[in-house]
Amino acid sequence: MSSHTFVLNGEKVTVDVEPGVRLLWVLRDVLGVTGPKYGCGINVCKACTSHVNGKAMNPCSVPVDQISPDDEITTIEGLADTVEKDLHPMQEAWIEHDVAQCGYCQPGQIMAAVALVRKVREEGRAISEADLDGIRNICRCGTYTRIREAIRTGEQHM
Ligand code: FES
Ligand code: FES
Repeated sequence: MSSHTFVLNGEKVTVDVEPGVRLLWVLRDVLGVTGPKYGCGINVCKACTSHVNGKAMNPCSVPVDQISPDDEITTIEGLADTVEKDLHPMQEAWIEHDVAQCGYCQPGQIMAAVALVRKVREEGRAISEADLDGIRNICRCGTYTRIREAIRTGEQHM
C-alpha cells in the first residue's frame, strides 16, 4: 500500500492503495464517487470521462500514482461547483434537450462536452461539426443527435 493525495471536486483527499491502481477504481471503490461510469476499463468507451486540471481524461487508464497532490480531479459530481451554481450550463442544456435515455454514458458525455468547449475557446474558436464528430464517447442507446444539439446549447451558455 502507498498513500496518494490529490484534489477531488475541490477537496483534498488521501487514499491508501497499491501503486498502479487505476484512478477509476480509486474514485468508485475507495472514495464512493460513482458518477464516472465503468464501461470498458481500457480507455475505449469513455463512460468514465472526468477532468484533470480542467481537461478531459479517462480515469480507467490513469494509474493513481501518476496523479500529483496538486492535480485537480473533477467528476460530474463536482462540475456545477466549478461555476458555483446548482447545475452547470451543460447539464441544463442536457435537461433542455432531454438527452438521456438509460443515462449510463451521460456523465462522461457531459464531461467530454465541457472539456471540448474549454479546448476550442482556448484555441479562440467555436465548436465545429468536426469537433462534434471527434467526440468518441459511446452511447449504446443512440442519443447522439440530442447530445450534439445539447452541446451547441451548452456552449452558448458557458
Ligand atoms: S471505462 Fe474508461 S474509457 Fe471505458
Ligand atoms: S443513454 Fe444509454 S448508453 Fe447513453
